[in-house]
Order: sequence, then structure tokens, then C-alpha cells
Amino acid sequence: MKVLGIETSCDETAVAIVEDGRKVLVNNIISQIELHKEFGGVKPSVAKYAHEEVIDDLILKTLSDARLKMNDMDLIAVTVGPGLVISLLVGFKKAKELAIKYDKKLVGVNHLLGHICSNYLESDLEPPFICLLASGGHTQIINVKSYTDYEIIGSTLDDACGEAFDKIGRLLGLPYPGGPNLEKLAENGNLRAFMLPEGKVNPFDFSFSGLKTAVLRLVQKSGDNYNRADLAASFQENVTNTLVKKITFAAKETGNKKIVIAGGVTANKTLRRKFKEVSDLETYMPDLKYCTDNAAMIAGAGYFLRDINQPVETMDVFAKDPSCIRLKTLSKSSL
Ligand code: KG4
Ligand code: ZN
Repeated sequence: MKVLGIETSCDETAVAIVEDGRKVLVNNIISQIELHKEFGGVKPSVAKYAHEEVIDDLILKTLSDARLKMNDMDLIAVTVGPGLVISLLVGFKKAKELAIKYDKKLVGVNHLLGHICSNYLESDLEPPFICLLASGGHTQIINVKSYTDYEIIGSTLDDACGEAFDKIGRLLGLPYPGGPNLEKLAENGNLRAFMLPEGKVNPFDFSFSGLKTAVLRLVQKSGDNYNRADLAASFQENVTNTLVKKITFAAKETGNKKIVIAGGVTANKTLRRKFKEVSDLETYMPDLKYCTDNAAMIAGAGYFLRDINQPVETMDVFAKDPSCIRLKTLSKSSL
């Protein structure tokens, strides 16, 4: 089954074609990073216009790269949230238009679910497993019971992990996006140079605000008199240790043997190395090109959600729960 995936939730316009949820035929992405750099973050109106400018051509190019036509597609999958609404609408309207014109089934995909499904691409991973999702907007531990049954068992109480990377990156004077630039700076730093605090919350949840404040105080206290690379390395060490510790704990508590990571932060090489070193559990992570936002993960998710009925006419990115799959919140006591 061939699925055309469309993703425009933030600052990447992405279109892909994936077969049976795993085989990526084409994965095209146009990044807007250069356009947003001068604002130090994503400017929604700029993102919207940039998506609109390229989406039609990118769909045509993707079909042509695969030597396929719209009529060869079995369904269309599109991100319906969470994300910037005016950006999401660009992809959503286009997907709806194509679904009606070519009489194709349309599947609305929750972006976070897409990140989880990035782990099925070019892989033989099967549920059940525990997934750590660490992106720019979310940090969650999710109990993935089947391809369509997900429960959030832990979340951040304040900043998302990628957001913390981005804010500390800005504090260190790095360009947007902070995460990959901070990783580069940390390469020559001493990860033991600064003792930074760990968020004090229950073992399933996350908190990065205390860490962020500690780094801010350090910078304010030292003026220009500190080694930026050392601070970047110490921060990265602290965050990656916390992430690995929490997912390992969650797997043991829930009796899961497989652990999986997903989302933009999982492009971080220190995190990938530490995660791979976990013993006693099977570890899976997406290929680097599927960690940050892409449409292959959305097309893949569309395949796994294909049997859930959601009429095109009623689909809407403004709906309270736009995705056909809810990520349910499970109280800790019911574990
Ligand atoms: O999943 P994603 O591409 O978009 C969202 O859904 O939010 O994640 C973007 C986040 C940004 O905060 C970015 O700084 C972070 O992922 N990120 C990284 C790295 N690459 C991207 N954080 C740490 N190290 C990286 N190499
Ligand atoms: Zn994302």
C-alpha cells in the first residue's frame, strides 16, 4: 500500500511516499531554517508563506522522483496537529484537495504519533515498547501497546527537552536552532566542568526549568569568564543522562523489554550513544534523517492508522482532538 505523506506543522515543508509503513520510496524536505534565523526562532507568518510557496512543486517532484502518479497512491496522510495552526493548514488544505480530486482516503495524523512511527521506517520494530519522545514542543514517555494503542505515562512539567536545548543555545549566543549547534559546541567541552542539578520530579515525569535557571545564574555570575564549550557539554551530559535514566526506569516498571526513542532531540549523538549502551533491553532509534520533522514518518503513521474511519468532510486542524488517534493520559496509579 503506497501512502503519500504531507507534513507542514512547523518550519519544514515535507512530502514523502512510503510503502506499507516501512519502505521509504521518496523523502523530500525543504527546510526553512535560514528564513527563521534572523528571528531566533520560528516566525509563524513567514513559515506559512514559505510552505505555500513550495508545497505544490514539492508534491509534483515527490511523485516524479518515485516515477508514480497521484492515482497510484492508496491513501494520503497529513499532519493535523499539534503544531502552528497556520502552517498546518497549508498541508491540510492541500491534502484534502487532493483526496477529493483523486477520490483517495485521507488520514489525519497526530505529529507525535508520526515521530513514534519514524521507528518503523526501514526497520522491523514491532510493538509493544516504551518510547521516549523528545522534540521541540514535547517530552513524553509513551507506552506503545500496539500500532494503534498509545498511552502517555510521563511528561515534562515545564519546558520540552528540545526547547531547553534551544533556550540554552540562545543564552550561549548560538544561532537557531539551538540543539544541533549546542551539540557542535559541546564537542570540545569538558562535560564534568560544571555540576548542574537534575529536575526533582517523580520518575516518569521531566522538569528542565531548574536546570535552565542554574545555567542562567552561572552565566550571569561569570560574565564572559566561563568556557562556553564546557557549559554546553555539561548541559548536554545532564540532559542526556536524565533521558536515558527515565526511559530505562519506565521500561523496567512496566515490564517492557524494548525501548525506543523519537523526535528531533534523538538526532543528538551523545544521546544515541548512551541509549545504545543500555544493557538488558532491546534499543531502537530512527535513522538520523527521520529524527527531525519529515513526511516519511507521517506517511508511515497513515498506513498503520488506515482502518480508522474519519470522513474527509469532518476533518479539521481546529478540532479539539484532530487526530484519529488520541494519546491517552494514564494516571501513574493505574500502572
Ligand atoms: O521533532 P522536531 O524536529 O520538531 C518538533 O516536533 O518540535 O524537534 C526539533 C527540536 C529542536 O528543539 C531542536 O533544537 C532539537 O529538536 N534538536 C536537537 C538536535 N537536533 C535537533 N537537540 C539536541 N541535539 C541535536 N542534535
Ligand atoms: Zn516534530
